[in-house]
Amino acid sequence: MYDLTVVIPTFNERANVAPMVGLLTAALQGRAWEAVFVDDDSPDGTADAVRAIAETHDNIRIIQRTGRRGLAGACIEGILSSAARLCAVIDADQQHDETRLPLMMDLFIQGDLDLVVASRNIDGGSSEAGFSGLRHWGSDQATRLTRRALGITVTDPMSGFFMVRRSSFHQVAPQLQRAGFKILADMLALAGPRWQVREIPYSFRQRQFGESKMDRTVALEFLGLLIARKTGGLVSIKFVLFGLVGAVGVFVQLAVVGVVFALVPGQFAFAQGCGVAVAIANNFVLNNMLTYRDRALKGRAFLQGLASFYVVCAFGAVLNIGLADLVYGLLPVVNLASIAGAVAGAAWNFVASSMFTWRAR
Ligand code: GDD
Ligand code: MN
Repeated sequence: MYDLTVVIPTFNERANVAPMVGLLTAALQGRAWEAVFVDDDSPDGTADAVRAIAETHDNIRIIQRTGRRGLAGACIEGILSSAARLCAVIDADQQHDETRLPLMMDLFIQGDLDLVVASRNIDGGSSEAGFSGLRHWGSDQATRLTRRALGITVTDPMSGFFMVRRSSFHQVAPQLQRAGFKILADMLALAGPRWQVREIPYSFRQRQFGESKMDRTVALEFLGLLIARKTGGLVSIKFVLFGLVGAVGVFVQLAVVGVVFALVPGQFAFAQGCGVAVAIANNFVLNNMLTYRDRALKGRAFLQGLASFYVVCAFGAVLNIGLADLVYGLLPVVNLASIAGAVAGAAWNFVASSMFTWRAR
């Protein structure tokens, strides 16, 4: 029986696996601990590197996920695979100071805590070493926004390094968003004031091998997380991204209609048809890159997906027009009826495309 499960999400971290196990082994000497790497089928063979070590180490495990991507989801699965009293989450790249783990464990023994956050933003902590200037600034802004929007008091809600009591984690696990990076902020928002939380300082280090998986999409997913939480979980991160793409599509449609109508004057229906057709293709490509990048379609599946997205959107358009007409009949306010139709159409497109176009595998 282990006291601690260290969950290490990985994507293309092969070179970091062995050093990480070595560091954990040194830091956690005398403790009953295990580590589980949760790998999203990394092309560099990270999972094989873990298995090679697991052959001789009983306390090293691998969860290899296929057809899925996402840091938060990986952390959730790792923690839910544990039977230990405590679970920690830590980067594979040695940016998080693993020598803090024993202290974090001891805090749980001393007090009735739910969560211990390793923070860069309290006395004794720092993030300069691990971040470029721009990323540092971005991280600061995101922290400020998160704390205000979600009513979080912790100084480093963006931290990817924390330890949680497993029984407490089970209280929030079903509602956690699986997309995106910021599982800690999501947990804090869901738990609210009922959790006892402590912070300890640590210095964010430089990544050892490989490169960061943080990109612009992660920032958009983070925006989605804030909106998801502000709506009490009514809309998901994916729905927010889908909506953003939809908004871009409106502009694409208007632009194409304008150009085609200028080229072939007098043929409005034709121009509108072109606009819609291009906008749907545009939205398919963007959603495939952004909203559904965790199950992005490639090659033949890409073309099949495009075709199914056209079918889905055709039904959406019929629903959109039908409902708008119905609402207009009840209450003849053009904007209201038109928006009602658009919202219903968008909701249909989202649900239907998640079932048919980007089916979860
Ligand atoms: N399974 C899985 N799936 N793991 C992933 C994925 C994914 O889609 N994306 C990233 N990871 C893994 C990486 O391999 C790494 O071990 C860890 O998650 C964090 O990713 P990094 O690419 O190293 O992110 P970072 O260093 O820029 O940011 C991290 O540290 C910050 C400071 O604590 C993250 O943990 C941030 O959330 C955190 O704010
Ligand atoms: Mn990192």
